[in-house]
Amino acid sequence: MMQLMTAAAPATRHVRASWIVEFYRSAIGKKAVMAITGAFLFGWIFLHMAGNLKVYTGAEHYNAYAQFLITMGAPLLPNKGALILVRTLLLIAVWFHIQAATQLTIMNRKARPVGYGERDFVAGTYAARTMRWGGVIILLFVIYHIGHLTFGKLHPDYIEGDVYHNFVTGFQVWWASAIYIIANLALGMHLYHGLWSMFNSLGLNHARFNAWKRAFATGFALVVTLANISFPIAVLTGFLH
Ligand code: HEM
Repeated sequence: MMQLMTAAAPATRHVRASWIVEFYRSAIGKKAVMAITGAFLFGWIFLHMAGNLKVYTGAEHYNAYAQFLITMGAPLLPNKGALILVRTLLLIAVWFHIQAATQLTIMNRKARPVGYGERDFVAGTYAARTMRWGGVIILLFVIYHIGHLTFGKLHPDYIEGDVYHNFVTGFQVWWASAIYIIANLALGMHLYHGLWSMFNSLGLNHARFNAWKRAFATGFALVVTLANISFPIAVLTGFLH
């Protein structure tokens, strides 16, 4: 009997992967990946919003800023070199963010004991569900947004290189503006919950940090949401034309 057990053992033995793969397989590893990719995505969204605020300084400045994004890194990098690098990093971050989120959801579902119904669990599920639906809405929005303002395929009057014109004529279509407003409200909630969980995943989960964390998450989510929503509203009200 003993001999049989030792003979069978090597066939079922789990092959040890490198520590980084092992870490990513664990729930805590996936949370860390979500926090790190989330911080990167959040930083980019903040800079994107700050760059778009240039629209309020006029067509010339806004178009010059768009041109700067193309020549950024010159003469070391060719035109669009830095832009392509950032786009690649964004794609990698989005990929891992969604992969870790999906795998965590599956792990949570498998681990959920039947009949478990405490208050924390209900609150946790509510936030998690909001995050999942928010994530899907944001992903669909980004696909629409790139087809709309980057490639112009979903734009009624796209002019290559005239970003200000594309911005104004794009938002003059009321339903396109409505899509931006709804998606950015979803983004605001996602950022708020996401920043909060990011702090917890990075170890700041003691109650004494709560007020500070709430202020930071609320402040940043509000600034990004209000600024982004102001763009379609400014066009619809005729403030930008
Ligand atoms: C109302 C708010 C927003 C405005 C006015 C806006 C404006 C723009 C414009 C004009 C471009 C094209 C730039 C160019 O071709 O030179 C662009 C690209 C892009 N935007 Fe936005 N954006 C907004 C919100 C967002 C949000 C919330 C996200 C992500 C969640 C996002 C993600 C992107 C991405 C990924 C690109 C392509 C980046 C690239 O060209 O490398 N944008 N945006």
